[in-house]
Amino acid sequence: MAIHKLLLLPGDGIGPEVMAEVDRVLAFFNKTGRAQFTTETALCGGCSIDKHGVPLTDEVLGKAKAADAIIFGSVGGPKWDKVKYEIRPEAGLLRLRKELDLFANLRPAICYPALAEASSLKRELVEGLDILILRELTGGTYFGEPKEIVTLEDGQKRAVDTTVYTTREIERIARVAFDLARKRGNKVHSAEKRNVMKTGVLWNQVVTALHAKEAKDVELHHILADACAMQLVRNPKQFDVIVCDNLFGDMLSDEAAMLAGSLGMLPSASLGAPDPKTGIPKALYEPIHGSAPDIAGQGVANPIAQISSFGMALRYSCNLPREADMIDKAIANTLAAGYRTGDIMQPNMRKVGTTEMGKAITTELERLAG
Ligand code: IPM
Ligand code: MG
Repeated sequence: MAIHKLLLLPGDGIGPEVMAEVDRVLAFFNKTGRAQFTTETALCGGCSIDKHGVPLTDEVLGKAKAADAIIFGSVGGPKWDKVKYEIRPEAGLLRLRKELDLFANLRPAICYPALAEASSLKRELVEGLDILILRELTGGTYFGEPKEIVTLEDGQKRAVDTTVYTTREIERIARVAFDLARKRGNKVHSAEKRNVMKTGVLWNQVVTALHAKEAKDVELHHILADACAMQLVRNPKQFDVIVCDNLFGDMLSDEAAMLAGSLGMLPSASLGAPDPKTGIPKALYEPIHGSAPDIAGQGVANPIAQISSFGMALRYSCNLPREADMIDKAIANTLAAGYRTGDIMQPNMRKVGTTEMGKAITTELERLAG
């Protein structure tokens, strides 16, 4: 049996608390012999700044490159608000994404039946929702140069961020969008701002051309990113796969998280190109929620996004689709049984903390494994 080498980077804030529940699920799989994992835990983010003065050391980057998959918690918090921009906690995560060329960020927003009431939207709008936001992750405004604040002659300051995309960058993410759509609802919405941005004009042209050349079998719609934000709350079930640039994807995925009930529910997978020999991509799995410093250390954070991110690792990095399905099922059943962390609490449900939720999901896994 293959042994999967995982690097755990719990990070800051609630990261270590929710990662502990992944450890519990991992231990379950190792114990039953359904899959074998070895893990190593390392520092990234504010915790690494405290120890090493930088958010990601070259040593940890090396471990990340050598791992079969990285399971990432979350980084940042008010404690590091004053550190230099170049070495802020988030820079560690961005460096990992860039150095491993993890250009395709899959952010599925699924509304578990038990949580249809937990969304701020009406039940009928979100019940049964299953959409996928595909965010380009290594280009655009996040990495474009120049990126600077300069002082002008009159003493004012001037800040610049640059949005840059090349044909190749757009093509490779669009190709992933069409491939994913074929395995789902066969529909892609490409979201950009071609009415204002040159990158939007090129994005639209490249996606259109690739569709004509390679993906005529997939239904393609173009939508302006602002209209997409609006349609996501007006009628989210019209979407299947939404593909967009780095910055729009950051925003649209937080919005989509609320359709699923809470930011604490959404996992993500960041994938590179498939390895030519194994067919398996470099990959990092992280919940889309942040480090939530306001609730860190209290044992109340929702571990579902983190556990579900581990589930995505089983699917995309470990070739264990049945075990990934088991995790999804265990989460759904645990929610159906009434377990709720504070963020998804509803009347007459059983309010639990991080550990209790992780234990309940693991117990359900044990039952499913029979
Ligand atoms: C996300 C986060 C990150 C991002 C931060 C932590 C840098 O918000 O993964 O969505 O903006 O990409
Ligand atoms: Mg974000």
